[in-house]
Amino acid sequence: MSAVRPLRVSVLGAGSIGCYIGGRLAAAGAEVTLIGRERIGTEIRAHGLRLSDLHGADIRVGAADVAFATGAESAATADLVLVSVKSAATPEAGAALAPVIGPDTVVVSAQNGLGNADTLRALLPEHVVLAAMVPFNVVNRGDGHFHQGSEGDLEIEQHPAVRAFATVFDDAGLPLHAHEDFRSVQWAKLLLNLNNAVNALSGLPLREELSQRSFRRAVALAQREALALLTARGVAVAKLTPLPPRWIPLLLTVPDWVFRVAGSRMLAIDPHARSSMWDDLEAGRRTEVDWISGEVVRLAAASGADAPVNARLVELIREAEAGGNRHWTGDALLADLRSQRAPRKPAGKRQRN
Ligand SMILES: NC(=O)c1ccc[n+]([C@@H]2O[C@H](COP(=O)([O-])OP(=O)(O)OC[C@H]3O[C@@H](n4cnc5c(N)ncnc54)[C@H](OP(=O)(O)O)[C@@H]3O)[C@@H](O)[C@H]2O)c1
Repeated sequence: MSAVRPLRVSVLGAGSIGCYIGGRLAAAGAEVTLIGRERIGTEIRAHGLRLSDLHGADIRVGAADVAFATGAESAATADLVLVSVKSAATPEAGAALAPVIGPDTVVVSAQNGLGNADTLRALLPEHVVLAAMVPFNVVNRGDGHFHQGSEGDLEIEQHPAVRAFATVFDDAGLPLHAHEDFRSVQWAKLLLNLNNAVNALSGLPLREELSQRSFRRAVALAQREALALLTARGVAVAKLTPLPPRWIPLLLTVPDWVFRVAGSRMLAIDPHARSSMWDDLEAGRRTEVDWISGEVVRLAAASGADAPVNARLVELIREAEAGGNRHWTGDALLADLRSQRAPRKPAGKRQRN
């Protein structure tokens, strides 16, 4: 009887998400190649990978048990390619994969935003390309240590091809939940990610930022604006959290002492975790704001409406990318965002957040 060959997985974008998921798949028996920058390769060769989570998992993968490469050519024999580069790098990632991967290779985008899988599909028209969604936060603690700082299960677009790799994700402790209406899942995640710009502008770890009502009110403003547009367009939003998406802004605006109890799940996050948008600002990289808050602005434009709060967040992140303020107080940010929408509301009808 011949042994079943391990699943061959290439991860294009060996950063926080790529090393964490790729490392856990390697620990579960997949043959994993991480494709990334030389600095990460040097770290992994020196220390191997350590993958921990908030539930106490602490998994080691020796440097010999995970391959590392800097070029996409190494994906030539992959059964599955997981794309985990930031959104701005997706066109380059797709173009690098196109001449290399075999006809049966399945490509999965494990990225935030709405359009990355579509970008890959356009570049890889012969391949099955699926969108996935990573609900949890991963912190790169250095020396090959990646920590999952919040909870949640991976979600993926429903497709028969998922069956070929679902078991290894199960074995890795990262079960895949398949959804038919994946756009609704992406919008639900995007609504939660509207906090990324606020977090990056606060300069604070996520838990500290979310513990302050004025920052939460700023997030609620951005979410309510998006939800109103989604309702007007009849776009469904999946329920990814115990609370339906439409109730989350209400929860965000309660006083701090109520939130400490009612919002305890949102605060159940590593005290050092920050948004990846903060990471990008810190590293002087282009952020994903165009693929997150910018999607709300585009939705508004497509509806002949506007989205002044999200447009302002895009603008403030652009300014921060160019060296502008990255240490807003909650009160100052909230006042700034409220001033964007105030003139557009009829007198006596202003909504409080
Ligand atoms: N981090 C989180 O907690 C989290 C949670 C949920 C979802 N997400 C989403 O997951 C995606 C990945 O985020 P991340 O935080 O893991 O990003 P990341 O840490 O920046 O990792 C991406 C890595 O890929 C590298 N890269 C880019 N293009 C490449 C190429 N052509 N070849 C090889 N390497 C390349 C980048 O290097 P350079 O920086 O040098 O370009 C970077 O090291 C994003 O869409 C993000 O929004 C992140």
